[in-house]
Amino acid sequence: MKGERATGFRMRRTLPPAAGPNRLRNLLHAAGGALSGARALKRFEGELKEYFGVRHVFPVSSGKTALFVILRALKALSPERSTVVIPAYTCFSVPSAVIKAGLDVKLCDMDRKTMDFDYNLLADAIGKDTLCVVPGNLFGIPSDVERVRRLCGPHGAFVVEDAAQAMGVRYKGRLVGTAGDAGFFSLARGKNITCGSGGVIVTDSDRVGKAVNGVYSTLPSPGAAETLKEFLMVVAMDVFINPSFYWLPSGLPFLKLGETRFYRDFPVERLSGMKAGLLRNWRTELEWSNRVRAENAEYFRRGLGLRDAYGRTPLLRLPVVLESAEARERVCSIAKGKGLGVSRMYPSPVNEIEEIKERFSGEEYPGAKTVAERLVTIPTHHLLKDGDRAAIRELFLKTASCPAHGQDAVRLNTPAKPAGQPRY
Ligand SMILES: Cc1ncc(COP(=O)(O)O)c(C=O)c1O
Repeated sequence: MKGERATGFRMRRTLPPAAGPNRLRNLLHAAGGALSGARALKRFEGELKEYFGVRHVFPVSSGKTALFVILRALKALSPERSTVVIPAYTCFSVPSAVIKAGLDVKLCDMDRKTMDFDYNLLADAIGKDTLCVVPGNLFGIPSDVERVRRLCGPHGAFVVEDAAQAMGVRYKGRLVGTAGDAGFFSLARGKNITCGSGGVIVTDSDRVGKAVNGVYSTLPSPGAAETLKEFLMVVAMDVFINPSFYWLPSGLPFLKLGETRFYRDFPVERLSGMKAGLLRNWRTELEWSNRVRAENAEYFRRGLGLRDAYGRTPLLRLPVVLESAEARERVCSIAKGKGLGVSRMYPSPVNEIEEIKERFSGEEYPGAKTVAERLVTIPTHHLLKDGDRAAIRELFLKTASCPAHGQDAVRLNTPAKPAGQPRY
Protein backbone atom coordinates (compact mmCIF):
# COMPACT_ATOMS: atom_id res chain seq x y z
CA MET A 1 0.00 0.00 0.00
CA LYS A 2 1.21 3.46 -0.80
CA GLY A 3 3.21 5.02 1.99
CA GLU A 4 3.14 1.86 4.08
CA ARG A 5 6.25 -0.09 5.01
CA ALA A 6 6.86 -3.63 6.14
CA THR A 7 7.04 -2.32 9.73
CA GLY A 8 3.42 -1.16 9.62
CA PHE A 9 4.30 2.53 9.50
CA ARG A 10 1.97 4.72 7.63
CA MET A 11 3.68 7.79 6.24
CA ARG A 12 0.70 10.04 6.59
CA ARG A 13 -0.28 13.10 8.52
CA THR A 14 -0.67 11.85 12.08
CA LEU A 15 -1.83 13.97 14.98
CA PRO A 16 -0.36 13.42 18.43
CA PRO A 17 -3.11 13.02 21.06
CA ALA A 18 -1.58 15.89 23.03
CA ALA A 19 1.02 18.54 22.29
CA GLY A 20 2.35 21.61 24.03
CA PRO A 21 3.83 24.62 22.29
CA ASN A 22 7.54 24.12 21.97
CA ARG A 23 8.94 26.21 19.22
CA LEU A 24 12.34 25.74 17.76
CA ARG A 25 13.11 29.40 18.32
CA ASN A 26 13.21 28.74 22.05
CA LEU A 27 16.17 26.47 21.57
CA LEU A 28 18.50 29.44 21.49
CA HIS A 29 17.14 30.55 24.86
CA ALA A 30 17.66 26.98 26.05
CA ALA A 31 21.33 27.20 25.14
CA GLY A 32 21.50 30.55 26.95
CA GLY A 33 19.79 29.02 29.99
CA ALA A 34 22.27 26.15 30.02
CA LEU A 35 25.12 28.66 30.11
CA SER A 36 23.61 31.06 32.64
CA GLY A 37 22.15 28.28 34.87
CA ALA A 38 20.98 29.84 38.11
CA ARG A 39 20.13 33.17 36.45
CA ALA A 40 17.64 31.55 34.04
CA LEU A 41 16.06 29.67 36.93
CA LYS A 42 15.75 32.80 39.07
CA ARG A 43 14.02 34.61 36.24
CA PHE A 44 11.63 31.70 35.70
CA GLU A 45 10.85 31.51 39.43
CA GLY A 46 10.16 35.24 39.59
CA GLU A 47 7.78 35.04 36.64
CA LEU A 48 5.98 32.05 38.15
CA LYS A 49 5.51 33.85 41.49
CA GLU A 50 4.10 36.87 39.76
CA TYR A 51 1.78 34.92 37.46
CA PHE A 52 0.38 32.62 40.15
CA GLY A 53 0.38 35.28 42.86
CA VAL A 54 2.18 32.97 45.31
CA ARG A 55 5.13 33.52 47.61
CA HIS A 56 6.96 30.26 46.95
CA VAL A 57 7.72 28.33 43.75
CA PHE A 58 10.09 25.43 43.14
CA PRO A 59 10.88 24.23 39.59
CA VAL A 60 11.79 20.51 39.57
CA SER A 61 12.48 17.68 37.15
CA SER A 62 8.88 16.45 36.68
CA GLY A 63 5.32 16.65 37.95
CA LYS A 64 5.77 13.45 39.94
CA THR A 65 8.93 14.87 41.47
CA ALA A 66 6.91 17.94 42.45
CA LEU A 67 4.32 15.77 44.21
CA PHE A 68 7.02 13.65 45.85
CA VAL A 69 8.76 16.76 47.24
CA ILE A 70 5.48 18.23 48.52
CA LEU A 71 4.58 14.96 50.24
CA ARG A 72 7.96 14.68 51.92
CA ALA A 73 7.56 18.26 53.13
CA LEU A 74 4.03 17.69 54.46
CA LYS A 75 5.14 14.50 56.18
CA ALA A 76 7.79 16.53 58.00
CA LEU A 77 5.03 18.89 59.17
CA SER A 78 2.64 16.09 60.20
CA PRO A 79 4.83 13.06 60.96
CA GLU A 80 1.98 11.11 62.57
CA ARG A 81 -0.03 10.98 59.33
CA SER A 82 0.71 8.70 56.40
CA THR A 83 -2.28 8.39 54.06
CA VAL A 84 -2.73 10.30 50.81
CA VAL A 85 -6.16 10.34 49.19
CA ILE A 86 -6.06 10.43 45.38
CA PRO A 87 -8.63 9.87 42.61
CA ALA A 88 -9.14 6.22 41.67
CA TYR A 89 -8.66 7.25 38.03
CA THR A 90 -5.61 9.39 37.45
CA CYS A 91 -2.13 9.40 35.99
CA PHE A 92 -0.13 6.44 37.31
CA SER A 93 2.61 8.91 38.30
CA VAL A 94 0.44 10.08 41.18
CA PRO A 95 0.47 6.77 43.12
CA SER A 96 4.14 6.38 42.05
CA ALA A 97 5.03 9.59 43.87
CA VAL A 98 2.99 8.69 46.97
CA ILE A 99 4.60 5.27 47.28
CA LYS A 100 8.10 6.58 46.60
CA ALA A 101 7.50 9.08 49.42
CA GLY A 102 6.88 6.10 51.74
CA LEU A 103 3.18 6.89 52.20
CA ASP A 104 -0.04 4.92 51.76
CA VAL A 105 -2.41 5.46 48.85
CA LYS A 106 -6.12 5.71 49.61
CA LEU A 107 -8.42 5.87 46.62
CA CYS A 108 -11.66 7.75 46.19
CA ASP A 109 -13.94 6.92 43.28
CA MET A 110 -14.80 9.52 40.68
CA ASP A 111 -17.98 10.97 39.30
CA ARG A 112 -17.77 10.35 35.58
CA LYS A 113 -20.06 13.28 34.85
CA THR A 114 -17.64 15.77 36.37
CA MET A 115 -14.36 13.80 36.15
CA ASP A 116 -13.86 14.94 39.76
CA PHE A 117 -14.10 13.04 43.05
CA ASP A 118 -17.42 11.50 43.97
CA TYR A 119 -17.95 13.85 46.89
CA ASN A 120 -20.41 11.52 48.58
CA LEU A 121 -17.49 9.15 49.03
CA LEU A 122 -14.70 11.60 49.71
CA ALA A 123 -15.91 12.49 53.20
CA ASP A 124 -15.56 8.83 54.25
CA ALA A 125 -12.10 8.55 52.73
CA ILE A 126 -10.65 11.30 54.96
CA GLY A 127 -9.67 10.51 58.54
CA LYS A 128 -7.19 11.31 61.26
CA ASP A 129 -4.42 9.47 59.40
CA THR A 130 -4.95 11.54 56.22
CA LEU A 131 -1.90 13.62 55.41
CA CYS A 132 -3.48 15.22 52.37
CA VAL A 133 -6.06 14.93 49.61
CA VAL A 134 -4.95 15.41 46.01
CA PRO A 135 -7.74 16.61 43.68
CA GLY A 136 -6.84 15.84 40.06
CA ASN A 137 -8.12 18.64 37.76
CA LEU A 138 -8.03 15.99 35.03
CA PHE A 139 -8.01 17.17 31.40
CA GLY A 140 -7.91 20.73 32.74
CA ILE A 141 -11.41 20.42 34.25
CA PRO A 142 -11.20 22.21 37.59
CA SER A 143 -11.85 20.10 40.68
CA ASP A 144 -14.04 21.55 43.41
CA VAL A 145 -11.09 22.39 45.66
CA GLU A 146 -13.18 24.51 48.02
CA ARG A 147 -15.27 21.47 48.74
CA VAL A 148 -12.17 19.37 49.29
CA ARG A 149 -10.90 22.02 51.72
CA ARG A 150 -14.16 21.99 53.64
CA LEU A 151 -13.96 18.22 54.01
CA CYS A 152 -10.27 18.27 54.99
CA GLY A 153 -10.52 21.16 57.45
CA PRO A 154 -12.04 19.32 60.44
CA HIS A 155 -9.45 16.53 60.09
CA GLY A 156 -6.46 18.86 59.78
CA ALA A 157 -5.52 17.28 56.43
CA PHE A 158 -3.70 19.29 53.76
CA VAL A 159 -5.00 19.86 50.22
CA VAL A 160 -2.48 19.41 47.39
CA GLU A 161 -3.79 20.37 43.98
CA ASP A 162 -2.65 18.19 41.11
CA ALA A 163 -2.73 20.82 38.38
CA ALA A 164 -0.45 18.82 36.05
CA GLN A 165 -3.01 19.16 33.26
CA ALA A 166 -4.39 22.56 34.13
CA MET A 167 -1.75 25.26 33.99
CA GLY A 168 -3.35 28.61 33.27
CA VAL A 169 -6.90 27.35 33.83
CA ARG A 170 -9.06 29.61 35.99
CA TYR A 171 -11.88 28.49 38.25
CA LYS A 172 -14.12 31.09 39.88
CA GLY A 173 -11.50 33.69 38.94
CA ARG A 174 -8.65 31.85 40.61
CA LEU A 175 -5.81 30.01 38.90
CA VAL A 176 -6.08 26.25 39.32
CA GLY A 177 -3.20 24.99 41.46
CA THR A 178 -3.34 27.90 43.90
CA ALA A 179 -6.43 27.04 45.93
CA GLY A 180 -4.94 24.33 48.14
CA ASP A 181 -2.10 24.34 50.65
CA ALA A 182 0.20 23.56 47.74
CA GLY A 183 -0.18 22.76 44.06
CA PHE A 184 1.93 21.37 41.27
CA PHE A 185 2.15 21.45 37.48
CA SER A 186 3.75 19.21 34.91
CA LEU A 187 5.85 20.56 32.06
CA ALA A 188 6.00 17.22 30.27
CA ARG A 189 5.37 16.67 26.58
CA GLY A 190 1.73 17.32 25.78
CA LYS A 191 1.02 19.62 28.73
CA ASN A 192 -0.26 23.21 28.53
CA ILE A 193 3.34 24.32 28.13
CA THR A 194 6.31 22.01 27.93
CA CYS A 195 10.08 21.78 28.12
CA GLY A 196 10.13 18.04 27.46
CA SER A 197 9.88 17.14 31.12
CA GLY A 198 9.66 19.25 34.24
CA GLY A 199 7.42 20.27 37.10
CA VAL A 200 6.61 23.26 39.28
CA ILE A 201 5.52 23.44 42.92
CA VAL A 202 3.54 26.48 44.07
CA THR A 203 2.39 27.49 47.52
CA ASP A 204 1.37 30.71 49.17
CA SER A 205 1.79 29.26 52.64
CA ASP A 206 5.04 30.24 54.38
CA ARG A 207 4.79 27.18 56.59
CA VAL A 208 4.44 24.79 53.65
CA GLY A 209 6.93 26.82 51.57
CA LYS A 210 9.54 26.51 54.30
CA ALA A 211 8.99 22.76 54.59
CA VAL A 212 9.16 22.31 50.80
CA ASN A 213 12.33 24.37 50.71
CA GLY A 214 13.80 22.04 53.32
CA VAL A 215 13.47 19.17 50.84
CA TYR A 216 14.16 21.18 47.68
CA SER A 217 17.45 22.54 49.03
CA THR A 218 18.80 18.97 49.21
CA LEU A 219 17.99 18.19 45.54
CA PRO A 220 20.79 18.00 42.97
CA SER A 221 20.72 19.86 39.67
CA PRO A 222 21.11 17.81 36.50
CA GLY A 223 24.71 17.45 35.33
CA ALA A 224 26.11 18.67 31.99
CA ALA A 225 25.80 15.29 30.23
CA GLU A 226 22.19 14.90 31.31
CA THR A 227 21.39 18.45 30.26
CA LEU A 228 22.88 17.84 26.81
CA LYS A 229 20.89 14.62 26.46
CA GLU A 230 17.70 16.42 27.47
CA PHE A 231 18.45 19.22 25.02
CA LEU A 232 18.79 16.74 22.17
CA MET A 233 15.58 15.04 23.22
CA VAL A 234 13.74 18.35 23.21
CA VAL A 235 15.01 19.05 19.67
CA ALA A 236 13.89 15.59 18.53
CA MET A 237 10.52 16.07 20.22
CA ASP A 238 10.06 19.41 18.56
CA VAL A 239 10.65 17.90 15.13
CA PHE A 240 8.67 14.68 15.57
CA ILE A 241 5.63 16.16 17.30
CA ASN A 242 4.85 17.76 13.95
CA PRO A 243 1.93 15.85 12.34
CA SER A 244 3.98 15.49 9.14
CA PHE A 245 6.52 13.37 11.03
CA TYR A 246 4.64 12.02 14.05
CA TRP A 247 3.81 8.83 12.13
CA LEU A 248 7.43 7.78 12.67
CA PRO A 249 7.72 7.81 16.49
CA SER A 250 4.12 6.70 16.88
CA GLY A 251 4.92 3.63 14.78
CA LEU A 252 7.92 2.64 16.90
CA PRO A 253 6.58 0.42 19.69
CA PHE A 254 9.77 0.56 21.77
CA LEU A 255 9.29 4.31 22.25
CA LYS A 256 6.08 3.45 24.13
CA LEU A 257 4.53 6.76 23.19
CA GLY A 258 1.21 7.33 24.87
CA GLU A 259 1.77 4.39 27.20
CA THR A 260 0.95 5.05 30.85
CA ARG A 261 3.65 3.68 33.11
CA PHE A 262 3.86 3.13 36.81
CA TYR A 263 7.33 4.26 37.94
CA ARG A 264 8.75 2.38 40.90
CA ASP A 265 11.47 5.01 40.96
CA PHE A 266 12.26 8.26 39.14
CA PRO A 267 14.86 11.04 39.32
CA VAL A 268 14.28 13.71 41.94
CA GLU A 269 16.13 16.81 40.79
CA ARG A 270 15.76 20.53 40.26
CA LEU A 271 14.83 21.86 36.84
CA SER A 272 17.88 22.63 34.72
CA GLY A 273 18.78 26.17 33.67
CA MET A 274 18.53 24.90 30.08
CA LYS A 275 14.84 24.11 30.55
CA ALA A 276 14.16 27.39 32.31
CA GLY A 277 15.71 29.03 29.21
CA LEU A 278 13.54 26.94 26.94
CA LEU A 279 10.52 28.32 28.78
CA ARG A 280 11.64 31.90 28.28
CA ASN A 281 8.36 32.85 26.53
CA TRP A 282 6.15 30.60 28.62
CA ARG A 283 3.48 33.15 29.55
CA THR A 284 2.76 34.14 25.95
CA GLU A 285 2.81 30.51 24.88
CA LEU A 286 0.58 29.41 27.73
CA GLU A 287 -1.99 32.05 26.93
CA TRP A 288 -1.90 31.22 23.24
CA SER A 289 -1.94 27.45 23.69
CA ASN A 290 -4.83 27.59 26.16
CA ARG A 291 -6.81 29.91 23.89
CA VAL A 292 -6.44 27.44 21.02
CA ARG A 293 -7.43 24.55 23.30
CA ALA A 294 -10.54 26.39 24.46
CA GLU A 295 -11.51 27.16 20.85
CA ASN A 296 -10.99 23.59 19.67
CA ALA A 297 -12.87 22.18 22.66
CA GLU A 298 -15.73 24.55 21.84
CA TYR A 299 -15.72 23.41 18.21
CA PHE A 300 -16.17 19.78 19.24
CA ARG A 301 -18.63 20.62 21.97
CA ARG A 302 -20.86 22.37 19.48
CA GLY A 303 -20.14 20.11 16.53
CA LEU A 304 -20.92 16.96 18.51
CA GLY A 305 -23.81 18.37 20.47
CA LEU A 306 -21.94 18.02 23.76
CA ARG A 307 -23.80 20.87 25.34
CA ASP A 308 -22.58 22.01 28.65
CA ALA A 309 -19.43 19.89 28.63
CA TYR A 310 -17.14 21.53 31.18
CA GLY A 311 -17.78 25.15 30.34
CA ARG A 312 -15.20 26.97 28.28
CA THR A 313 -12.18 25.57 30.02
CA PRO A 314 -9.05 25.15 27.87
CA LEU A 315 -9.20 21.36 27.99
CA LEU A 316 -5.90 19.59 27.49
CA ARG A 317 -7.95 16.90 25.72
CA LEU A 318 -11.71 16.66 25.44
CA PRO A 319 -12.88 13.56 27.34
CA VAL A 320 -15.84 11.61 25.96
CA VAL A 321 -17.19 8.55 27.76
CA LEU A 322 -18.75 6.27 25.16
CA GLU A 323 -21.54 3.80 25.82
CA SER A 324 -19.37 0.70 25.79
CA ALA A 325 -15.81 -0.57 25.68
CA GLU A 326 -16.52 -1.99 22.20
CA ALA A 327 -17.64 1.41 20.96
CA ARG A 328 -14.42 2.86 22.31
CA GLU A 329 -12.33 0.24 20.50
CA ARG A 330 -14.18 0.95 17.27
CA VAL A 331 -13.64 4.69 17.48
CA CYS A 332 -9.99 4.35 18.47
CA SER A 333 -9.13 1.92 15.73
CA ILE A 334 -10.75 4.05 13.00
CA ALA A 335 -9.07 7.14 14.42
CA LYS A 336 -5.71 5.41 14.49
CA GLY A 337 -6.03 4.37 10.86
CA LYS A 338 -6.75 7.96 9.94
CA GLY A 339 -4.07 9.46 12.20
CA LEU A 340 -6.59 11.62 14.07
CA GLY A 341 -5.01 11.55 17.54
CA VAL A 342 -8.24 10.40 19.20
CA SER A 343 -7.05 8.02 21.88
CA ARG A 344 -7.58 6.29 25.20
CA MET A 345 -6.20 7.72 28.40
CA TYR A 346 -5.12 5.66 31.44
CA PRO A 347 -5.68 1.94 30.82
CA SER A 348 -7.05 1.04 34.25
CA PRO A 349 -8.15 2.48 37.56
CA VAL A 350 -5.32 2.88 40.06
CA ASN A 351 -6.39 -0.19 42.07
CA GLU A 352 -5.74 -2.38 39.01
CA ILE A 353 -2.21 -1.17 38.27
CA GLU A 354 -0.22 -4.39 38.01
CA GLU A 355 2.68 -3.31 40.24
CA ILE A 356 0.51 -2.21 43.19
CA LYS A 357 -2.83 -3.96 42.83
CA GLU A 358 -2.30 -6.19 45.85
CA ARG A 359 -2.53 -3.08 48.04
CA PHE A 360 -6.15 -2.66 47.00
CA SER A 361 -7.44 -6.22 46.97
CA GLY A 362 -11.17 -6.41 47.42
CA GLU A 363 -11.67 -2.70 46.65
CA GLU A 364 -13.85 -1.58 43.77
CA TYR A 365 -14.17 1.77 42.06
CA PRO A 366 -16.96 1.47 39.52
CA GLY A 367 -16.84 5.10 38.34
CA ALA A 368 -13.11 4.91 37.64
CA LYS A 369 -13.48 1.47 36.06
CA THR A 370 -16.15 2.68 33.65
CA VAL A 371 -14.06 5.66 32.63
CA ALA A 372 -10.96 3.49 32.16
CA GLU A 373 -12.93 1.17 29.88
CA ARG A 374 -14.94 3.65 27.84
CA LEU A 375 -13.13 6.96 27.70
CA VAL A 376 -11.73 8.44 24.52
CA THR A 377 -10.06 11.80 24.34
CA ILE A 378 -10.20 14.23 21.45
CA PRO A 379 -7.10 16.36 20.83
CA THR A 380 -7.48 20.08 21.33
CA HIS A 381 -3.93 21.31 20.73
CA HIS A 382 -2.52 23.89 18.35
CA LEU A 383 -1.49 21.36 15.69
CA LEU A 384 -5.09 20.67 14.67
CA LYS A 385 -6.05 22.15 11.33
CA ASP A 386 -9.59 22.77 10.11
CA GLY A 387 -9.47 19.53 8.09
CA ASP A 388 -8.44 17.54 11.18
CA ARG A 389 -11.24 19.00 13.26
CA ALA A 390 -13.79 18.22 10.54
CA ALA A 391 -12.47 14.65 10.17
CA ILE A 392 -12.67 14.04 13.93
CA ARG A 393 -16.17 15.46 14.08
CA GLU A 394 -17.22 13.26 11.17
CA LEU A 395 -15.69 10.20 12.81
CA PHE A 396 -17.79 10.74 15.93
CA LEU A 397 -20.96 11.62 14.09
CA LYS A 398 -20.69 8.66 11.74
CA THR A 399 -19.83 6.12 14.39
CA ALA A 400 -22.91 4.59 15.96
CA SER A 401 -21.35 5.09 19.36
CA CYS A 402 -21.19 8.83 19.00
CA PRO A 403 -22.38 10.40 22.22
CA ALA A 404 -24.16 13.00 20.16
CA HIS A 405 -26.45 10.15 19.10
CA GLY A 406 -27.53 10.03 22.67
CA GLN A 407 -26.68 6.50 23.76
CA ASP A 408 -24.82 7.40 26.88
CA ALA A 409 -26.11 8.75 30.12
CA VAL A 410 -23.26 10.88 31.37
CA ARG A 411 -23.68 14.59 31.50
CA LEU A 412 -20.95 15.13 28.97
CA ASN A 413 -22.91 12.95 26.63
CA THR A 414 -26.32 14.33 27.51
CA PRO A 415 -28.60 13.25 24.71
CA ALA A 416 -28.65 16.14 22.36
CA LYS A 417 -29.27 16.50 18.68
CA PRO A 418 -26.04 17.03 16.80
CA ALA A 419 -25.80 20.71 16.03
CA GLY A 420 -26.03 21.58 12.36
CA GLN A 421 -22.89 22.41 10.47
CA PRO A 422 -21.07 24.61 12.95
CA ARG A 423 -19.87 27.98 11.77
CA TYR A 424 -16.57 29.29 13.03
C1 LIG B 1 -2.85 14.28 36.36
C2 LIG B 1 -1.36 14.13 36.35
N1 LIG B 1 -0.70 14.13 37.51
C3 LIG B 1 0.64 14.00 37.57
C4 LIG B 1 1.39 13.87 36.42
C5 LIG B 1 2.88 13.68 36.53
O1 LIG B 1 3.61 14.60 35.78
P1 LIG B 1 5.00 14.21 35.09
O2 LIG B 1 4.71 13.36 33.91
O3 LIG B 1 5.58 15.54 34.72
O4 LIG B 1 5.80 13.50 36.12
C6 LIG B 1 0.76 13.89 35.18
C7 LIG B 1 1.54 13.76 33.94
O5 LIG B 1 1.23 13.19 32.97
C8 LIG B 1 -0.66 14.01 35.14
O6 LIG B 1 -1.31 14.01 33.98
